[in-house]
Amino acid sequence: MKLEIVRTVKEIRDQVLEIKAKGKTVALVPTMGGLHDGHLSLIKKAKEVADYVVVSIFINPKQFNNPSDLETYPSNEKADLKNIEHLGADIAFIPSVKEVYPDKFATDVKVTAGIDILCDAHRPGHFDGVATVVTKLFLQVGADFACFGEKDYQQLFIIKRLVADLNIPIKIISAPTVREKDGLAMSSRNARLSKSDRKIAPQLQQAMQAIKDEIHSGISIEKACDNAWKSLDSFTVEYLEVRCGEKMVLMDKPSEGCRLFAAAWLGGVRLIDNIEI
Ligand code: PAF
Repeated sequence: MKLEIVRTVKEIRDQVLEIKAKGKTVALVPTMGGLHDGHLSLIKKAKEVADYVVVSIFINPKQFNNPSDLETYPSNEKADLKNIEHLGADIAFIPSVKEVYPDKFATDVKVTAGIDILCDAHRPGHFDGVATVVTKLFLQVGADFACFGEKDYQQLFIIKRLVADLNIPIKIISAPTVREKDGLAMSSRNARLSKSDRKIAPQLQQAMQAIKDEIHSGISIEKACDNAWKSLDSFTVEYLEVRCGEKMVLMDKPSEGCRLFAAAWLGGVRLIDNIEI
């Protein structure tokens, strides 16, 4: 099937209803464009779990708490469509801001678990914007599955919660973080790193790996994080924390399923990452 490009809620609903009437399943990969190999791995995963794949591209203004971040967010619809088509996705859903948030729009979805910590402590309101748009996309598309990357682990946690709490009939599928050869977690924002900062950026993941190794050699989580924080002198670190991957509770001792979460600024670009400890 050739890639269909649809821009309205009515069109995407009709197309998905038609697919489902044939007894076929649909997976949604929500994106804000600027597609990289991390997104492409989600599209591949979506193709494994469902008969048809819808990729949405929508730069959601509600989740940007910094106007210049929104203005400079990478966008290249032509290149994105080429990648989506190449991977064999079936439909690209590219609504306008007016289509998603028409005049008089006045509803927010607010998840109250997994917030006030990590990114939410530094980007207040960001996850309300994510929860609102993701709920809308789920209701608009009516897919059976939706795929999200573990790089945005807190986002994944919040989305799983909202799906359970609002009884949305969709299965959330997660996929591991995809990294550059030098270990940097892939992100659309990496394109905004200067040439020299791009060389420094993998130090964040290296410092995280060092924390993991130190914890495994018996050094306390607090000391290991402190050592890494001091070593990251080119960055402005926001947090380095070990939390339980299931409940997101802060840990002072490692245990099964716990993860190290990091966020740091490098030359005006905010990098986030997480790894299992
Ligand atoms: O992870 C993202 O790209 C966005 O937060 C999402 C899930 C597409 C919602 O706008």
